[in-house]
Amino acid sequence: MKSILLTGGAGYIGSHTAKALAAAGHLPVALDNLTTGNRWAVKWGPLVEGDIADTALVRRTVEAYRIEAVIHFAARAYVGESNVVPNEYFTNNVVGSLGLFQALVDCGVRNVVFSSSCATYGHQTTPLLTEEHPQIPVNPYGDSKLFAEKALKWYEPAFGLRSVWLRYFNAAGADPGLETGECHDPETHLIPLALRASMQADAHLDVYGSDYPTPDGSCIRDYIHVMDLASAHIRALEYLLRGGPTVGLNLGTGAGSSVKDVIAMAERVTGLPVKARFRERRPGDPPSLVADASKARRVLDWQPAMSDLRTIMDTAFRWHSTRGFRSANRESRTVAA
Ligand SMILES: NC(=O)c1ccc[n+]([C@@H]2O[C@H](COP(=O)([O-])OP(=O)(O)OC[C@H]3O[C@@H](n4cnc5c(N)ncnc54)[C@H](O)[C@@H]3O)[C@@H](O)[C@H]2O)c1
Repeated sequence: MKSILLTGGAGYIGSHTAKALAAAGHLPVALDNLTTGNRWAVKWGPLVEGDIADTALVRRTVEAYRIEAVIHFAARAYVGESNVVPNEYFTNNVVGSLGLFQALVDCGVRNVVFSSSCATYGHQTTPLLTEEHPQIPVNPYGDSKLFAEKALKWYEPAFGLRSVWLRYFNAAGADPGLETGECHDPETHLIPLALRASMQADAHLDVYGSDYPTPDGSCIRDYIHVMDLASAHIRALEYLLRGGPTVGLNLGTGAGSSVKDVIAMAERVTGLPVKARFRERRPGDPPSLVADASKARRVLDWQPAMSDLRTIMDTAFRWHSTRGFRSANRESRTVAA
């Protein structure tokens, strides 16, 4: 059994990965400041409540739990918000990450899996995005992720810290066992918003842009089931623990779904119409982002098993049917009152 530190382990992808790590016989230790994460989502190991920028806390945690590797999920991750408060994105995602990496170097931790993003590419100029596609982000969030990748590139020659940068496309779906799932406030991801606009009488889905140069005019994204992401993290850890060198890998399926495809699937799984309102395009939204995921398959011997749109939306629907769309913050306010 290895102790693995999960920064952001109380978040959406972090909690699913914690479950998969525990199933693989490891101890996931979550370090989370609970800004967007949920205390209830930490079920498979201890929660250390605090910030990645608190380097003394990181060092104490690494020593107390004899951490052998880190999966660095913690970040602010709202693309739209990053255009409004870019300073907060660079402070949290860049300055915070640099502090974390320094603490890891000081403590002798040399294996890091980093949550990067397809947002580091910017506009897609080829039919599929390979890892060699130019990285020219079109929002501060993407730039903050790219900066962390660039820093990590130099940590291997300088400090022997090897890393895998997993560039996720669009994480979606929920644990089929319904022990965890997506719970953000505000929610900005299309699939939960489409389900909510179908399941709740007073909810609508705002669709930004219907005149994109795509077959149906709406944006295309590559949705990857969160349990497939979780299994890729375990493969990436094993790769690093075997001594694999630093590498960046796309995690997607190679197949895109449009916003209108998602709406149609939401209507199929719920049996109810999605109340959609079509709006102007939003700045910073590329028309299409679809991965060439062949390198991850090759390097990690990994492939998605649950990422067809039907399975993604079925698991998300079951999760939200059980848990509703209440936010953790509202729940904890209710409890406190
Ligand atoms: N969800 C996606 O589709 C997607 C796509 C690409 C990349 N990513 C990246 O994956 C990671 C996880 O995303 P998610 O969807 O699970 O988001 P999330 O908001 O559910 O999880 C992020 C977690 O990090 C914590 N956190 C944030 N800043 C922190 C700090 N300074 N110190 C300690 N904890 C902190 C939050 O409380 C939260 O629990 C993020 O780095 C995100 O940028 C997500």
